[in-house]
Amino acid sequence: MRSLLAGKKILFAISGSIAVYKTAAWVRELVLAEAEVTVVMTEAASRFVSSLTFAALSGRRVYTGMFEHDAGEAMTHISLASECDLFIIAPATAQTIAKLANGLADDLLSTLALANRAKLLVFPAMNSAMYCHAATRANLARLQEYGYTVIAPEEGKLACGEEGVGRLPDWETAREEIAAACSVQDLQGQTVLVTAGPTWEALDPARHLGNRSSGKMGYSLARSARRRGADVILVSGPCSLTPPPGVETVHVTSARQMHDAVLAHYDRADIVVMAAAVADYRPKKTMAEKVKKSGRATTLELVANPDILKKLGSRKKQAKRPLLVGFAAESSDHLAEGERKLLQKNLDLIVINDIAGSDTGFEADTNQVSILDKEGGLEKLPLLSKDECGTRILDRVVALLQ
Ligand code: CTP
Repeated sequence: MRSLLAGKKILFAISGSIAVYKTAAWVRELVLAEAEVTVVMTEAASRFVSSLTFAALSGRRVYTGMFEHDAGEAMTHISLASECDLFIIAPATAQTIAKLANGLADDLLSTLALANRAKLLVFPAMNSAMYCHAATRANLARLQEYGYTVIAPEEGKLACGEEGVGRLPDWETAREEIAAACSVQDLQGQTVLVTAGPTWEALDPARHLGNRSSGKMGYSLARSARRRGADVILVSGPCSLTPPPGVETVHVTSARQMHDAVLAHYDRADIVVMAAAVADYRPKKTMAEKVKKSGRATTLELVANPDILKKLGSRKKQAKRPLLVGFAAESSDHLAEGERKLLQKNLDLIVINDIAGSDTGFEADTNQVSILDKEGGLEKLPLLSKDECGTRILDRVVALLQ
């Protein structure tokens, strides 16, 4: 997020709803991501939260009225609008939406929206009856015709005490919408299937065989693909991460469940990225009752799990789609092992990562990978955050699609 937003000029316009209090945290997060945030508030918005709060959080002057500027700033509405890279309106009240839909320009916010040429995100927030009213629906449809991106509010308990649709989304959802607005939509129209995390192979009701995969790399890839416009299906093994907003997530536990889930969605996929650490073996028998200790040494009999990626590779044969990307988690002979897996599984790309280092591979927030293609081309990436690593892997995928 930081690299995406660093230096971006964001005009953050706030209209008068109780949800204003939530946007204080959004402004803070945007500033932490190194965006240059200029806040504009309607008179009603500043009744809910003082402009002083937003001035402190953004570190900049807050604009509230058309005629409040200093001498020499007479054309504030033009200069603020023409200088921004992204225009966000959050919360957007029914009144503000109606004004924008009809091209009214009777306050600074609506005037800026008319003068704006940058991408414009609208986050409606209001009582559910107001949101569902035919007038608001028609006005929102009009905003979409103008090319504005309208982010649907969420359902839940509203500040007015009612239950329904109309809540301003939480920051995680807003962050993804803002990140998408700042990303090239080079995966639009593509469906990306990503697997992530470990698989657990049950031994008895209390125990399983697993591995140290945290799921971070796969979740980063899913988030990054979504930001770039893809429809994303995430098949996730057991892990503690929250799925990225807007991603269709299928939770599985064992390798066989992952196999079934991947095959169930395979036909829809244009790109498959197998970042999961799938267990190669499972206990031959899963005991119905907890196994008791006998005090003696014992042997556990294992049987092979299906190799999901190999199966996808053999299905693909000469077809161009889906594009197959595998991961090779190695502690030695990295390149030779990666090459072997690329060929044996009929992949388009393989991402080779070293699981021996403390800042690469399992559990770490960073990763250092090399990407090998079918022609033998090898790209060694530096140590990167898993988010940046995911972005670089998808850059290669996009290059192959072209
Ligand atoms: N993979 C898979 N199904 C399995 C095992 C692995 O789909 N049963 C996928 C992984 O998701 C990864 C790639 O195959 O994308 C390589 O996985 P890795 O564990 O590195 O290699 P293995 O194929 O298990 O080979 P080896 O045990 O020899 O390292």
